[in-house]
Amino acid sequence: MNSKYSEAKKIVEKYGQQHLLNFYDKLTEDKKEKLLDQILSIDFEQVKKLYDNIQNHTEKKDNIIEPIEYLDKSKIDIKEKNYLDDIGKEIIKEGKLAAVTMAGGQGTRLGFNGPKGTYDIGLSSKKSLFELLCDSLKEANQKYNVTIPWYIMTSEENNADTENFFKSKNYFGYPKENIIFFKQGKFPMIDTNGKILLNEEGLIKEAADGHGGVYIAMLKNKVIEDMKKRGIDWIFIGGIDNVLVKMVDPTLIGLAIDKNVSAAGKSVVKAYPEEKVGVFCNKNGRPSVIEYTEMPKDMSTQKDNNGELKFGESHILCNLFNLKSIEKISENILPYHPAFKKANYLNNDGKIVEASEPNAYKFEAFLFDAFEELDDMAILRVKREEEFAPVKNSDAKGVDCPKTARELYENYQNNK
Ligand code: UTP
Repeated sequence: MNSKYSEAKKIVEKYGQQHLLNFYDKLTEDKKEKLLDQILSIDFEQVKKLYDNIQNHTEKKDNIIEPIEYLDKSKIDIKEKNYLDDIGKEIIKEGKLAAVTMAGGQGTRLGFNGPKGTYDIGLSSKKSLFELLCDSLKEANQKYNVTIPWYIMTSEENNADTENFFKSKNYFGYPKENIIFFKQGKFPMIDTNGKILLNEEGLIKEAADGHGGVYIAMLKNKVIEDMKKRGIDWIFIGGIDNVLVKMVDPTLIGLAIDKNVSAAGKSVVKAYPEEKVGVFCNKNGRPSVIEYTEMPKDMSTQKDNNGELKFGESHILCNLFNLKSIEKISENILPYHPAFKKANYLNNDGKIVEASEPNAYKFEAFLFDAFEELDDMAILRVKREEEFAPVKNSDAKGVDCPKTARELYENYQNNK
């Protein structure tokens, strides 16, 4: 056996993960190499810590949670709106804005077999989510006489399909050199006993590391470097699954610059206190997003002097950062959150187990966990019907599904 094998063997023995090499002899030479590389690159200490945390339900420290200040876009007086827009428009026209679309998710809830961005929500144009987003960038390019670089984050699972889709559609007529794909990181999945799973091929089962993986992926894939070369100062980061996402918004840029902050986020008013969304807040004096699962009931119903929810600014994954703040964030590792999911795997008898119920943990970083590293953040409240049409579930669920997104999109287009 080679020295790489001996090294890998030592590691798996140290961490009680010997089963990972059970089927080594049966693998092809290529796969043997791949498995050893996987073992040598995984941070087993971190995997162990994450599993221990799940077991011990580590106590959360007492945080001081306070409402966050925001500006309501629909209520800004026209003079101030023009002032902010002029600042933002200047940045866009000078070619200092880039857009990042995070499209590495699994789209499990939608139940579509393929990258979510290739999904057609049923518009008469039959356009995919990718094309709808591309349309909005093309419109902005024309308006401001620039070409905004569009960075698309994919994952190991969907990168090839995504790139092939763009090729087959001739990049929707967008200048090809301004569409840049980059892959997010991955993390091994573990079972309820903390054992790392093997996939159907006998390799380590890995899953995308969550949308919070975007910062480190931008660093590792030299996206930050590329942006510097292109003279980019501001970056909009959003998801692929909001049909009404406004990636190019001068008001948001103007607000961040005017407030002298390194990041800004958009919010929509929480529909009702129990709505399952995270909301912007200040946590221990820093901007943050509190998940609905962490929010005590009395807090979720509290109202301010205007009769509005005190914690009512829903986070919609529409955020703007300056390049320096992304550089800073990308140097630190964000916390990983466990998610209990269904995962097919190869068991110790060499049989493939098809999961019908959640049976394993995957670990995800959340984009908004990085907000606490920022001193301050500007929040712009926008109208749900103008900027938020998520595609999360299948139509059978009836909410945040292709049907609701299609209706919102059509209404918006008709009233524009
Ligand atoms: P979500 O977590 O809401 O949805 O991602 P999802 O992963 O697409 O679908 P489910 O949860 O499996 O049903 C919100 C946005 O973040 C991106 C998604 O592609 C989507 O645009 N995302 C999520 C990533 O890019 N990578 C991830 O690891 C997770």
